[in-house]
Amino acid sequence: MNSDLFESEEKRVPSAKYLAVGSLIVAVLGFFFWTQVDQEVVDIGQLKRRQQVRRLQEENESIARPDPDVVFAELAKLGKAAPIPSYLQVDRNRAGAWIVRKPGGKVAAVLPFPPQQSPKPPSDAQPIHENPGFLGAKACEECHAETFASFSKTSHHLTSHLATPQSIRGSLDSGKNRLGTRLPNVSFKMVEHDGAAFQRASFMGWEFEIPMQIVTGSAKLAQTFLYWNDDELYQCNVTYLTDTDSWINSPGYHDGDAAYERPIIARCLECHTTYVDFREPVNRFTPRSLITGISCERCHGPGREHVEYHRENPREKESRFVTVPSDLPRDKELQVCSQCHSSITPLKGRPFRFRPGDDLIQHYEPPGEESGNSVHTSNQLDRLGRSKCFLQTEMTCVDCHNPHQFERGNIALFSQRCMKCHQPQACGMSDEVGEKISTNCIDCHMPFTGSDQLRLDTASESIFPEMRDHYIRIDKQASDAYLKQNAVSDK
Ligand code: HEC
Ligand code: HEC
Ligand code: HEC
Ligand code: HEC
Ligand code: HEC
Ligand code: HEC
Ligand code: HEC
Repeated sequence: MNSDLFESEEKRVPSAKYLAVGSLIVAVLGFFFWTQVDQEVVDIGQLKRRQQVRRLQEENESIARPDPDVVFAELAKLGKAAPIPSYLQVDRNRAGAWIVRKPGGKVAAVLPFPPQQSPKPPSDAQPIHENPGFLGAKACEECHAETFASFSKTSHHLTSHLATPQSIRGSLDSGKNRLGTRLPNVSFKMVEHDGAAFQRASFMGWEFEIPMQIVTGSAKLAQTFLYWNDDELYQCNVTYLTDTDSWINSPGYHDGDAAYERPIIARCLECHTTYVDFREPVNRFTPRSLITGISCERCHGPGREHVEYHRENPREKESRFVTVPSDLPRDKELQVCSQCHSSITPLKGRPFRFRPGDDLIQHYEPPGEESGNSVHTSNQLDRLGRSKCFLQTEMTCVDCHNPHQFERGNIALFSQRCMKCHQPQACGMSDEVGEKISTNCIDCHMPFTGSDQLRLDTASESIFPEMRDHYIRIDKQASDAYLKQNAVSDK
C-alpha cells in the first residue's frame, strides 16, 4: 500500500540547469563588483588586492555560506502540498499561523504560510546592516593553512551548514526514513527529490512537504533542520538523534502535531553560525548574508581588516587587527567561550555584537539562578568554577581544549592536560589503578551526567544525552563505577 500523494522517492541527480543559473548569478555579481570598483579612483595594486579579498569572500561564500546559486535555485525547491481533505478545518491562531485539524481536535498541523501553498523561496533582499567584517573561516586558509585544515574538522566549524541530501546524517532511505507518532494517522517521512531533502508530513490523511534547508548541529548529539519562508526562518518538526540513529520530534515539540511554525530567533544563530544580518523582529534575517559554521572570527574578532592589512603588507610579521583570547585578562578570555557555553541568556540589543575583550554583561542579561549541566542550559564555566583546579590557579578552558583541533574522545590526551599540574601519584587511587592511571583521569573526576533539562523524546522513550561534568572533584560513585567496569573488562 502506498498512501503517498506524491510521486515516487527515487533519487535524482541535481540537474545542470541549476549550475547554469549559478554561473549566471556569479557572472552578474562579478560584473556588479567590477563596475563598482572600476568607478573608484584607486591605485592598481590596491585595487588588485581588494579584488583578491572580494574573490576570497566569494570563494568563501561558496563553501561557508549559501551562495546565490544554492539559496535561490537549489534551496528554492519547496516541496508540495496535497489538497486539504474536507473533514479538516483551517483556522488562524493569534500569532497568525495557520492551523489545520479535525474540528475540536487536540493535535494540529501548524504552518506559518497558507496550507496547500509552499513556503516562499528564501528572500533575495540585500542586507539592511553592514556586515561588521565577518568573512568565514575559509578566508583565513591562505595564510593559516594548517590551522584552517585542522579547524575545519571541529564541531565549531561543522555546527551548521546548508543542507544537501548527502549532508543530512539521518537516513532518507525508505524503511529508515519514517517517524511515527502516538497517532497512527500522523507520521513523517524524510525524503529526497530534485536534489533536495524534505520532511513529508502525513497528517490525518493530508500530506505536505517542508524543505530541510539549513542543518544545525555537527551530529555529535543531534541535527535540527531549518527552512526559510521568504526572510523568516523556522524550525522543522523532526530532528535527527545520533544516539539512536533515528528521527525524533524536535525537543519541546508535542507528539502528534505537525508543527512547522516555531521561529528561529537570532540568539539561536548567534551560537550556531558565524554571522547573519538580523532584520527584526524575532526571526527575520537576510538569507544571503548568512555565514554558516562558527568561524575563527567568533573567538578572534571579525577578520576583514586583519586580512586586508596583511594582504597589503605581506612582509609584516606582527599581526594587526586581531585578538588572541589568551592575551586578554582571564575573565575576558573565559567570556569568549561563555558567549555560547553558558546558559541561554537573552540579548540586550542586536545580535552578533559581542567581540573578544568585551564584557558579556554589555550584550546579554545575566544568567539565571539555574545553571544545570545540559546541552542548552549548560554552563561549563559555572561547573568548572566550583573546582579547586580552577579556583586555585589561573586555569581557562584552553588549558584543556585546543580550539583548533578535533580532540573529542581522546581521553588519554585530556589526561595529559591534567598532568600538567598533577602527578598521577598524587591521586589516592594511583596504587589501585596502576600504571594505566595516566591514560584516564577523566572518567573518575569528570564523569558523564545526564540532565532533565535536555530531554529528547523519541516515539518510545525519553533520552537524556550525557555530558561531561566540568565540576572536577573526588566523586566516589564515578570512581566505583569506573573500577567495576574496568575489573570486568580486564578479565
Ligand atoms: C594575508 C595573510 C593573512 C590572512 C588571510 C589571515 N591572516 Fe592572520 N595573520 C597573518 C600574519 C602575517 C600574522 C602574524 C604572524 C603570525 O602570527 O602568524 C597573523 C596572525 C594571526 C593571529 C595571531 C595573532 C597573534 O598576535 O599571535 C591570529 C589569531 C590570526 N592571524 C587570525 C586570523 C584569522 C581569524 C583570519 C581569517 C579571518 C586570518 N588570520 C587571516 C596573516 C594573515
Ligand atoms: C547560548 C548558546 C546556544 C544557543 C542560543 C543555542 N545553542 Fe544549540 N548548542 C549550543 C552548544 C554550546 C551546544 C553543544 C553542547 C556541548 O557539546 O556541550 C549546542 C548543541 C546543539 C545541538 C546538538 C549539536 C550536536 O552536534 O549534536 C543542536 C541540534 C542545537 N544545539 C540546535 C540549536 C538550535 C536549533 C537553537 C535555537 C533554537 C540552539 N541550538 C540554540 C549552544 C547554543
Ligand atoms: C573557539 C575559539 C577559537 C576559534 C574558533 C579559533 N581560535 Fe585561534 N585561538 C583561540 C585561542 C583561545 C587561542 C590562544 C591559544 C593559546 O594561547 O593556547 C588561539 C590562538 C590562535 C593563534 C595564535 C597562535 C596559536 O596557535 O596559538 C592563531 C594564529 C589562531 N588562533 C588562528 C585561528 C584561525 C585561523 C582559526 C580558524 C581557522 C581559529 N584560530 C579559530 C581560539 C579560537
Ligand atoms: C559562537 C559560539 C561559540 C563560541 C564562541 C565557542 N563555542 Fe564551543 N561550541 C559551540 C557550539 C554550538 C558547539 C556544539 C557544536 C556541535 O556539535 O554542533 C560547541 C562545542 C564545543 C566543544 C565540544 C567539541 C566536541 O567535538 O565535542 C568544546 C570542547 C568547545 N565547544 C569548547 C569551546 C571553547 C574552549 C571555546 C572558547 C575558546 C568555545 N568553545 C567557544 C559554540 C561556541
Ligand atoms: C592548571 C593546573 C591544573 C590542571 C590543568 C588541573 N588541575 Fe586539578 N587541581 C589543581 C589545583 C591547584 C588543585 C588544588 C590542590 C590540590 O588538591 O592538588 C587541584 C585539585 C584537584 C582535585 C582535588 C579536588 C578536591 O576537591 O579535593 C582533583 C580530583 C583534581 N584536581 C583533578 C584534576 C583532573 C582530573 C584534571 C584534568 C581533567 C585536573 N585536575 C587539571 C590544578 C590543576
Ligand atoms: C581540566 C580540563 C578541562 C577544562 C579546564 C575545560 N574542559 Fe571542557 N572538557 C574536558 C574534558 C576531559 C571533556 C570530555 C572530552 C571528550 O570526552 O571528548 C570536555 C568536554 C567539553 C565539551 C563537550 C561536551 C561534553 O560535556 O562532552 C564542551 C562543550 C566543553 N568541554 C567546554 C568547555 C568550556 C567552555 C570550558 C571553559 C569554561 C572547558 N570546557 C574547560 C576538560 C576540560
Ligand atoms: C579509579 C578512579 C580514579 C582515577 C582513574 C583517577 N582518580 Fe584521582 N582520585 C580518585 C579518588 C577516589 C580520589 C580520592 C582518594 C582518597 O581520598 O583516598 C582521588 C583523588 C585525587 C586527587 C586529590 C588528591 C588529594 O589528596 O587531594 C587528585 C589531585 C587526583 N585524584 C588527580 C587524578 C589524576 C591527575 C588522575 C589521572 C592521572 C586521576 N586522579 C585518576 C579516583 C580516581
